[in-house]
Amino acid sequence: MTSVAGKRIVLGVSGGIAAYKAVEVCRRLMDGGAHVVPVLTKGATRFVGRTTFDALASEPARMSLFDEDGPIPHTALGRNADCVVVAPATARVIGAYAAGISSDLLTATLIATRAPVVICPAMHTEMWEHPAVVDNIATLAGRGVHIVGPESGRLAGGDEGAGRLSSPERIADEVGRILAGGAPGDMAGLSVVVTAGGTREPIDPVRFIANRSSGKQGYAFAEEAACRGAEVTVISTIDRPAPAGARMVRVGTAEEMASAAAAEAGGADVVVMAAAVADFRPAAPAGVKLKRRDGVPAITLEPTPDILASLGSSKPGGQILVGFAAETCDVAANAAAKLRDKGADYIVANDVAADHAGFAHDTNEVLVLASDGQTHQIGLRSKRQVARAVLDLVVAERNARTEARAGSKERQ
Ligand code: CTP
Repeated sequence: MTSVAGKRIVLGVSGGIAAYKAVEVCRRLMDGGAHVVPVLTKGATRFVGRTTFDALASEPARMSLFDEDGPIPHTALGRNADCVVVAPATARVIGAYAAGISSDLLTATLIATRAPVVICPAMHTEMWEHPAVVDNIATLAGRGVHIVGPESGRLAGGDEGAGRLSSPERIADEVGRILAGGAPGDMAGLSVVVTAGGTREPIDPVRFIANRSSGKQGYAFAEEAACRGAEVTVISTIDRPAPAGARMVRVGTAEEMASAAAAEAGGADVVVMAAAVADFRPAAPAGVKLKRRDGVPAITLEPTPDILASLGSSKPGGQILVGFAAETCDVAANAAAKLRDKGADYIVANDVAADHAGFAHDTNEVLVLASDGQTHQIGLRSKRQVARAVLDLVVAERNARTEARAGSKERQ
């Protein structure tokens, strides 16, 4: 766990069955040396007693805006905190926070604080998928609130589905990481190439065929990798500077992106093909502007190079290749076909027609398919957090490969 030592953490607990796991979150943060101040909602105390937190945390549990004299507790708690964590966060607390409604000490503290906030939702799948909750999570993620989980699995009452609180270990880990500036430095020494944006295929000198890609997800990968210490090259079609510390290669067409990728990817440890590359281009773009008076032009299209497939077929040993799948239906099946056909280690698939996800949004929701057959659902969160979750998988895979190599050398 990245260090939480010496940090003042307000641990908000709201009323869900997963409240009992907040005890373990508290214990882990305390073990890491944090100063933990529990704030319980009335609902939380129906699931877990405040005495438990009184005994474990650095300060007695707080419950009410009015239970003490002296300075107004909601502003004092929020102002003095290095981080506010809510685990579990119910639909009610999430909704109140998103709407700026202060109805108890916890929501008041959330609205009063300027410290980083980590929301760990837990609820039944039907509630988690309700459009109001989806909107509220998107609003919070768009404001920079860190959303951790929920995971899929067994829920209270024996149901299965998305909505399970993330493990206390993961929550404590994320808090440590956020307090460290989100940069664990675990990609130091790695060279990462990221493609970003949609390509433009000229029809004539003023017109082109394009797509809706904003490049935001690609830039989020580049930023996250750079923050984690990687040496990053961004091959981009977007008129936006590279993230601090990253190198930029500007391209326009699929052909230009293919050449840049071929030149840059060979020596890379990780390649992330986040760009939306055109599949077809005008076979013979006009050299001068097409004139209206000449009538509707018949434009013949030809295929562009499939960059990901060609990187996949010439991938150097040890490189991890991450592709994307932009889908509007049958997401899992189409993504599985791309994983198989393009030689990628991971395919990050999203439904680009969904609300709050895909092109131009600040948030995304993806399904990651790995070549070892595992799948990972990454629920709605900011594009930076999606990048973080995917790069966590990449780093874990690299570490596993390094360990396996070391193990096989030892056996020789
Ligand atoms: N890709 C690529 N070169 C292309 C087209 C796509 O490298 N000419 C890459 C994208 O960057 C992405 C992955 O392939 O990482 C999948 O892109 P997507 O547009 O979802 O699928 P396509 O392969 O184009 O297939 P289809 O449009 O039929 O879904």
